[in-house]
Amino acid sequence: MEPVIVFKNVTKTYPYYGYITAGFKTFLFNLPKALKYTRKRFTALEDISFEVYKGECFGVIGRNGAGKSTLLGLIAGVLKPDRGKIEVKGRVSPLLELGAGFHPDLTGRENIILNGILLGMTKKEVLNKMEEIIEFSELGEFIDQPLRTYSSGMMARLGFSVVAHLEPEILLVDEVLAVGDINFQNKCIKKIESFREKGVTIVFVSHAIEQVEKMCDRVLWTDQHRIKAIGKAKEICKFYKEFMNG
Ligand SMILES: Nc1ncnc2c1ncn2[C@@H]1O[C@H](COP(=O)(O)OP(=O)(O)O)[C@@H](O)[C@H]1O
Ligand SMILES: [Mg+2]
Repeated sequence: MEPVIVFKNVTKTYPYYGYITAGFKTFLFNLPKALKYTRKRFTALEDISFEVYKGECFGVIGRNGAGKSTLLGLIAGVLKPDRGKIEVKGRVSPLLELGAGFHPDLTGRENIILNGILLGMTKKEVLNKMEEIIEFSELGEFIDQPLRTYSSGMMARLGFSVVAHLEPEILLVDEVLAVGDINFQNKCIKKIESFREKGVTIVFVSHAIEQVEKMCDRVLWTDQHRIKAIGKAKEICKFYKEFMNG
């Protein structure tokens, strides 16, 4: 088994924004505290080590704020760790949080080109696949409307449709399926399964624990910014469900 993603003792922190985002007055009137806080950092992930093997479907579960999206951002290389080492072998196609890589003033069609290029296709390749991508998205005439008129479900359709027509080696999926309707969700699941059959490595973040259990080989459970458990999907999901219900 060949590891294609390796995390070794990875820690990721973010700055605290509390006293800054609360406005200038709050910042000023609490200056000593605020200054102290701007130097303090919030630990989103602490001492994380794991490996993902080639061709594996690897699930990541955990509560809101547990650090799942941060983990995907680190794999995608859009975030850098504070400590530790990350190795990723292969082309990463990230389907990250909603709207990442989209522009609200461009139409759906223009966003397909933008997104496709951001994900490593040439403009010609995107144009060759344009009709297929639009058909998969089922967005119909909305494809020529600006993106700011789209619902979150429509944006997810657009994002997934572009990724579905790439040839990914490592596919990252961050909860994008949750916003689509059930028909489109099933279509996406089928597509992800076909990628899996082709040997694409998949890292799958979802709140739908049944979906994770069904699709994934192994699962990593993050809690309190650390690894709570890692192992066979069935066992970890069972453990997780018991923990959340009890
Ligand atoms: N850009 C950021 N700046 C500051 N804090 C952040 C940032 N992104 C995420 N966080 C914080 O890091 C923690 C983990 O976030 P995230 O990885 O998005 O969790 P999850 O995807 O599991 O819900 C959260 O507490 C969140 O508030
Ligand atoms: Mg998230």
